[in-house]
Amino acid sequence: MKVFMIGAGDIARHHGRAVVRLGGEVIGVYDVSEKNLEIYRSEFGCLSCTYEEIEDYVVQADYVVISTPPTKRLDYVEMVLKHHVACYMEKPVACTMEDAMKIKAMADKFDGKIMVGFAHYYRPAYRKMLELVKTGMFGEPVDIAFSRLSPGFGFHAKNLGASWRTDPDLACGMTVESVSHDWKLITAMAGGFDTIACNYTGTIASVPKFDNHTSITIRLRNGAIGTIAASWACDIPTCSRAYIGTKGSIFLTGEGMFEFTKLTWKTEDMPYAETLTFNDSYDHATGDVIFYAHEAFQKAMREGTEFETPLADGISALIYSLAAKESSERQKTVRVPDWGEV
Ligand SMILES: NC(=O)c1ccc[n+]([C@@H]2O[C@H](COP(=O)([O-])OP(=O)(O)OC[C@H]3O[C@@H](n4cnc5c(N)ncnc54)[C@H](O)[C@@H]3O)[C@@H](O)[C@H]2O)c1
Repeated sequence: MKVFMIGAGDIARHHGRAVVRLGGEVIGVYDVSEKNLEIYRSEFGCLSCTYEEIEDYVVQADYVVISTPPTKRLDYVEMVLKHHVACYMEKPVACTMEDAMKIKAMADKFDGKIMVGFAHYYRPAYRKMLELVKTGMFGEPVDIAFSRLSPGFGFHAKNLGASWRTDPDLACGMTVESVSHDWKLITAMAGGFDTIACNYTGTIASVPKFDNHTSITIRLRNGAIGTIAASWACDIPTCSRAYIGTKGSIFLTGEGMFEFTKLTWKTEDMPYAETLTFNDSYDHATGDVIFYAHEAFQKAMREGTEFETPLADGISALIYSLAAKESSERQKTVRVPDWGEV
């Protein structure tokens, strides 16, 4: 497939590689950074374009990947959807409900096809976990316990670089950016939420909007409880994502916040726990993680089926993240707002 890239940063390079690995071609790229465009052109042998030329490329593409900072997307979304070209949009879809609703309005107006890049949802180890949960062997959810702590952006306030993440004008913090993944992983297994309580904090005094530690507790609609403990500034990289049900439990664990290495489960009928080991690493094979998502995107396009991570999931994740932030800021448990059918 022919793909046009809007955004040529770190994750965009993995997107480009996934497209090529699937037998496709990056037909062009746009970014505000000449340095990143140069890196992109030299790796993919594609042309770059000016802002005014973006739509000339969009109309030639089978789909467009948008991986700009989440506050810098609205104009690009319109340039893509108005030509009825499908869009792979990185998470989080936006940082405010106002922007998210503008994207939804454009998607409605142009009957736009948008898949949100919740890449971890498409990884083999999580797919296996979801498949086992969906059999019902662990019963109804009781407690969804997620913990993912590791070095990351802002670790010891050192690796700030010139990233949008720690730019005071663009920052949204990990509760919006990174926890968006966890909302999708949890809701796919256990459904949506009613209430959220959260405390977040950041370790970079000069950028208070950049939270890099968050501690969230939730009440799911079906009565289960859940927790998400997340850090981008912890010295010991570790993760554990657990579904504890009425008949059994299953844990996905690894040594890094998105390392999916061991899947361990036990039900009341099993004498011992069983474990499957996966080579499903984000730190060592980010490209593979993004590849699985493009593979699913292209399959849905070819078969005319719905995306499993549609725009509605991206908006739901933002609702949950913003509710968590509001809870921390007001020191109250927040009922998830009803934004209607998204
Ligand atoms: N799905 C995943 O696993 C995953 C992983 C990493 C990042 N992401 C998401 O991808 C997005 C980008 O993250 P990244 O790590 O690639 O960041 P990055 O800083 O490496 O890249 C962002 C790029 O956007 C460009 N840019 C900034 N403002 C722009 C504008 N107005 N118009 C066009 N280009 C602009 C920058 O020059 C840069 O090249 C974020 O939303 C992030 O959350 C997703």
